[in-house]
Amino acid sequence: MTSFGRDAPYPEPKATHTMARTGRPFTDRKPPPAAPIWDVIEGFGRFHVLASAIELGVFDALEAAGAVSVDELAVRVGASPRHLHALLQALAGMGFLERRGERYELNDTSRRYLTSSGPATMAALVAVAPGPLDNWATLTETVRRGRPARPIEDDPVAFYGPLVRGTFATILRCAQRADRQLSYSTLPDARVLDLAAGLAPWSIAVLTSNPAATAVVNDWPEILDAAEPLLADHRITDRVELRPGNVHQITLERDHYDLAVLGHVCRTEPDQLGRELVGRATAALRPGGRLLLSDYFLGREVELDPHTAMMNVTMAASTREGRCRTADEYASWMRAAGLQDIRLIEPIGFQRVLVGRRPFREGRQ
Ligand SMILES: C[S@@+](CC[C@H](N)C(=O)[O-])C[C@H]1O[C@@H](n2cnc3c(N)ncnc32)[C@H](O)[C@@H]1O
Repeated sequence: MTSFGRDAPYPEPKATHTMARTGRPFTDRKPPPAAPIWDVIEGFGRFHVLASAIELGVFDALEAAGAVSVDELAVRVGASPRHLHALLQALAGMGFLERRGERYELNDTSRRYLTSSGPATMAALVAVAPGPLDNWATLTETVRRGRPARPIEDDPVAFYGPLVRGTFATILRCAQRADRQLSYSTLPDARVLDLAAGLAPWSIAVLTSNPAATAVVNDWPEILDAAEPLLADHRITDRVELRPGNVHQITLERDHYDLAVLGHVCRTEPDQLGRELVGRATAALRPGGRLLLSDYFLGREVELDPHTAMMNVTMAASTREGRCRTADEYASWMRAAGLQDIRLIEPIGFQRVLVGRRPFREGRQ
């Protein structure tokens, strides 16, 4: 008689039916794999490998040198060959480098995104995208208390200075590509209101494609100081008015602008202030003018949208009241402000923009 239950499919256990060989012999349920846990544990290290490689200048050095040996690259970037080798092997494993024999070289992904001159460079973004790293180390306490110990709002310029440098190339591409859906390049005498503009990628996109367009560009004074050289590089300084100060408090004209831009700013705002900001931007539009509100919008099923779910945790980890919202939630703010014809566009992957129009005749909703 065996010790197995009466419903066992075999009259007797066979020698091969041991836990070591087949798992539980009389059930088709196997324990789930631990790979997702290892994926997370290693994710921490992968982030630092990539951030260090960028900080060491590995991708820029490979761009300049082509395929090189570890020893040669170590001299170029000033690193220990043994430690650099470990880094390069990990980067190749992540799909950011190719190995040819004893030499390493860039591939299409690293050439496009990880060199500082790449056409869609994210090199300056990687290290700052998660927000202040100390805030991740204290996440447990933040979740218990309901607020981070050091929210970015305590020193916005220290956080946003590097961040807007890091996002500039991506948002500029998004804004340039958006012309296909918005046709801003052909708007006669277009007036742009770029609120919390960072380094002003939206204004740069519109003004460089539309020679008659002008813009009012707002952000903190130190951020606008950093934007000025970029405006000069794009030869649009004379068509831009800088309007430094708190976006909630600066004076805005009414019924004046063709385009108002709220680019990736609403998610740091609490509901009340966010709604007011949308209302102020809308009131500044002339009838027929359009509000552009870009953000990382939560999917209706947050659990099925892991990227925005992580952005939402990033907001919880480092802001006082910031959170991601669904596009529907923002659209309801826009409708409440009086905007119509609200639609969602995605000029480039992962960058989506809600567009709403102020009606030509108010009250005709
Ligand atoms: C994520 S960046 C987005 C920059 C730009 N709009 C874009 O789409 O690339 C947010 C910007 O909002 C600015 N900002 C946040 N709160 C602000 C406030 N109360 N007044 C003025 N600027 C503010 C920050 O300085 C930063 O430049």
